[in-house]
Amino acid sequence: MSASPPGLAPLPPPIIAGQPWTALAPMQDVTDLAFMGVIATFGAPDYFFTEFLRVHSQSRPERHILRSIDENATGRPVFAQLIGEDIFHLERTVRDLLRHPIAGIDLNLGCPAPKVYKKNVGGGLLRDPDRIHEILGALRAACPGRFTVKMRIGFEDTRHFARILDSVNHHRVDLLTVHGRTVREMYRSEVRYDEIARAVAAVRCPVLANGNVTSAAAAVRIVRETGAAGVMIGRHAIRNPWIFRQCREAFGGQPVTPVTLADVHGYIRLLYRATADPAIPERAHVNKMKKYLNFVGQGVDADGAFLHAMRRVQGEAELFAVCDAHLLARPEIRFADEPYPGVIARPNCETPDAASDGCSLETVTA
Ligand SMILES: Cc1cc2nc3c(=O)[nH]c(=O)nc-3n(C[C@H](O)[C@H](O)[C@H](O)COP(=O)(O)O)c2cc1C
Repeated sequence: MSASPPGLAPLPPPIIAGQPWTALAPMQDVTDLAFMGVIATFGAPDYFFTEFLRVHSQSRPERHILRSIDENATGRPVFAQLIGEDIFHLERTVRDLLRHPIAGIDLNLGCPAPKVYKKNVGGGLLRDPDRIHEILGALRAACPGRFTVKMRIGFEDTRHFARILDSVNHHRVDLLTVHGRTVREMYRSEVRYDEIARAVAAVRCPVLANGNVTSAAAAVRIVRETGAAGVMIGRHAIRNPWIFRQCREAFGGQPVTPVTLADVHGYIRLLYRATADPAIPERAHVNKMKKYLNFVGQGVDADGAFLHAMRRVQGEAELFAVCDAHLLARPEIRFADEPYPGVIARPNCETPDAASDGCSLETVTA
């Protein structure tokens, strides 16, 4: 899997040569330095991507995102993701980022938040394949190393998909990630793996399949079904940070190492410590933890009892009392590989709110 077609920049070597690649999906307010470090503790993906850096006339690369590049101690490469449509400022930002240890530049063609797509950036650009062609050309010229794209399959339908894939070939994009949903489909519809397979057949570069890669078994199935070079995993890595190690086991034909509820307790403790910030009051930090735990809870119990109790806590002591009661009372019980059916990360919030200027943990369910 590691050889790239002639004319394209090879990807950094994966952890295990010859296996399908894994990547942690870029997630705004999630995939920061601390979170990447926590994930790496349990088994790093081959590649990390930063959350998107906003590009416009007044933008400067956000400092906290630069930290996830400059202070990355995971040993795995980080691609910097950009969102924007102004070519002059995209080029300027690329020049800025080239001074940092990035594995490549990634362009976001998928963010479905209305406030974003209404500015014709992210998923909004999928309505304008000519503009995408121009932007890809400019970014290809501006990136001496790897230039990658992460896209959805269309805005409201797939009418421009084939043209955009032609542009990906024309401008020698080095890696394409396809989230198999349209912008209108947001995050919870069925994923169109057939459309991901169509991209695999159409482009010369490797393709990462993205969307509902819920487990190592799902990763094996999706790679087989789509012919993709690997998988990118987002929400299910928040739920199960062991997923990348488990993917490597499954890709290698080995049994997947089970995770217990005691292991999950350890993960929550580590995540709490790693994401703590003296400037953030305890209550706010606990609220942030609840957003991660919304995903974790999907694998704890089939009735959603942990989620129910966790959502009501207000402070650190209460939070860990709930964790102790639900995770340490039965420490050897297996944490589910797949989310329990019907246990939804945020039952009352299925679409990003119109005021949100991105994809935040408040607004994205699984
Ligand atoms: C909280 C959150 C934030 C996200 N932020 C970004 C982002 O900054 N850039 C991006 O390309 N996609 C972003 N996404 C989309 C994910 O990268 C991914 O495409 C999507 O969640 C589907 O994959 P999954 O089913 O593995 O989660 C975000 C998703 C979530 C849940």
